[in-house]
Amino acid sequence: MKILVTGGTGFIGSHTVVELLNQNHEVVIIDNLCNSSKTVVKNLEKITNKKVPFFNIDIRNKKALEELCSESKFDCCIHFAGLKAVGESCQKPLEYYDNNINGTLVLLEVLNKYNCHNLIFSSSATVYGNPKSNPIDETFPKGTCTNPYGWTKSMIEQILIDLHTANPDWNIALLRYFNPIGAHKSGLIGENPNGVPNNLMPYITQVAVGMRKELSVFGNDYDTPDGTGVRDYIHVVDLAKGHVKALKVIEKKQGLKIYNLGTGHGYSVMQVIKTFEKVNNVKIPYQIKPRRSGDIAACYANAQKAFKELGWKAENTLEDMCRDSYNWEIHKKN
Ligand code: NAD
Ligand code: UD1
Repeated sequence: MKILVTGGTGFIGSHTVVELLNQNHEVVIIDNLCNSSKTVVKNLEKITNKKVPFFNIDIRNKKALEELCSESKFDCCIHFAGLKAVGESCQKPLEYYDNNINGTLVLLEVLNKYNCHNLIFSSSATVYGNPKSNPIDETFPKGTCTNPYGWTKSMIEQILIDLHTANPDWNIALLRYFNPIGAHKSGLIGENPNGVPNNLMPYITQVAVGMRKELSVFGNDYDTPDGTGVRDYIHVVDLAKGHVKALKVIEKKQGLKIYNLGTGHGYSVMQVIKTFEKVNNVKIPYQIKPRRSGDIAACYANAQKAFKELGWKAENTLEDMCRDSYNWEIHKKN
């Protein structure tokens, strides 16, 4: 298939491009580089030994998108482009709604005009809010999001559901990611957060290489086995492979489908720290701090639907994720 990948130089997009090229799909990346860099394209070419067409285009730029889509006929679009920092979204809600929602509307309009009615969308487990129980399956109701970023995901899902209802020609996979971590084994691509990381794994890797003194563990009084928060961490390469498998929805013209992409296992913050220390033979100094506002105790997936319908299952262990995350941090530093 010829696939338009928005946000393809970002963390998850770049790993997905590798897996798509490995399966001999043709890929064109667009990204405005607001949270990634052009060097990713070079590194993608090194990893895959293929030329990777890249265009610096903002998804809100209708004219540029139209030019691209009128020249190339895309079979499918995998839509990663978006802003994703939870804290920042609370400070700059209008920027988030404009970039994520308006950007998606412009993209959909152009895809529609050029007869590309196939889309895979990066959604998030955040749309479940605080679930009534775990594991979470796709039949669980969507919940109340605690921040504008989360709402953009929830609203875009609704927009895509309405679009499919209005025009059943659309085939759409809504992929709800749990917590992606890890990096490509080559150490050439990985997550590159700006400033102080908000998420657990990039903070741990920065402590591991001495960039930060210690990790703050946000709360040890949750109703979880050791009191610290439990999440479903998934290796970004497994997540990327999930997108290749989700192309089945497009190939088989299955309409609108929703899938959780997680491992089905929950690990606590303390388990992640201990595993990271063990596999990488480093010490992670930490201090217990108060709970972070907006956090929930536990969140992990039932990923059976993706296994049964797409034949997809996460393969990497928490050990692999800790090893590859550290390897990437070391490569970035040197
Ligand atoms: P990322 O920031 O690394 O990648 C997003 C890419 O989109 C970046 O390269 C950025 O430059 C680009 N971009 C942003 N706005 C754009 C615009 N208007 N036009 C063109 N390009 C634009 O983030 P990621 O972790 O790779 O996430 C990819 C997608 O998955 C996002 O939509 C994110 O919300 C979603 N998601 C991420 C996570 C996670 O933990 N990383 C979890 C759930 C969902
Ligand atoms: C965060 C986002 C969520 C997004 C998800 C994807 C928030 C509130 N939510 O979820 O929208 O979809 O990332 O990866 O940011 N922790 C610490 N110390 C730290 C950082 C985190 O103890 O320095 C703990 C948290 O309290 C949590 C766990 O580690 O229990 C995971 O946190 P994080 O990596 O930020 O992910 P989420 O909060 O699950």
